[in-house]
Amino acid sequence: MNTYDAIKKRHSARSYTDRQIEKNDLEKILLAGGMAAVGMGAYDSMKFTVIQNKDLLTEIDNVAGAGKNHPLYGAPTLILLSAKELRLPNIEYSNAGCVIQNMMIMAADLEIDNIYLWGAAMAVKNNPELKAKLNIPEDYHPIASIALGYSDKDRDKVKEEVMKITAEYFL
Ligand SMILES: Cc1cc2nc3c(=O)[nH]c(=O)nc-3n(C[C@H](O)[C@H](O)[C@H](O)COP(=O)(O)O)c2cc1C
Repeated sequence: MNTYDAIKKRHSARSYTDRQIEKNDLEKILLAGGMAAVGMGAYDSMKFTVIQNKDLLTEIDNVAGAGKNHPLYGAPTLILLSAKELRLPNIEYSNAGCVIQNMMIMAADLEIDNIYLWGAAMAVKNNPELKAKLNIPEDYHPIASIALGYSDKDRDKVKEEVMKITAEYFL
């Protein structure tokens, strides 16, 4: 798939089947994330946690949804991105955007459904017990996550070619 087609194909999937993604696809998606632009090249300030264990996924879903909804949408894989605070305040959140975007585009290219999940990452961040259970070091904070799997809805959704962000030109 060319880059533009992968960008058009990326969309947030909010309903998943139990079908797990292949290990080699998971590795490609992690690699794509790890090749993102990162401020000051601080790659060692970030850490991925891959969760496919059903009990842990359910626990994160319960904590994040507070029993009211299912913020992981039943996805069988969650990649949590944690980061250390850096000298430039908040730069880790920009880094996370680049890393997760690379992963979403790679997943779209592999025809794997996905969604950027902020809520799930914040739920783990605010729950020290769960953070410890996931072996996230104390000086790393969950800052973003991406859910991956195969949706049973809108599998073939492709973005229309429209600009959603307005542009003002000074030519
Ligand atoms: C930083 C960020 C955080 C997001 N967090 C969530 C989330 O916690 N839950 C959710 O359902 N969608 C989340 N989304 C998905 C957006 O709602 C979605 O990208 C947006 O509505 C555009 O739709 P599209 O992804 O299908 O193009 C997040 C997206 C971004 C970029």
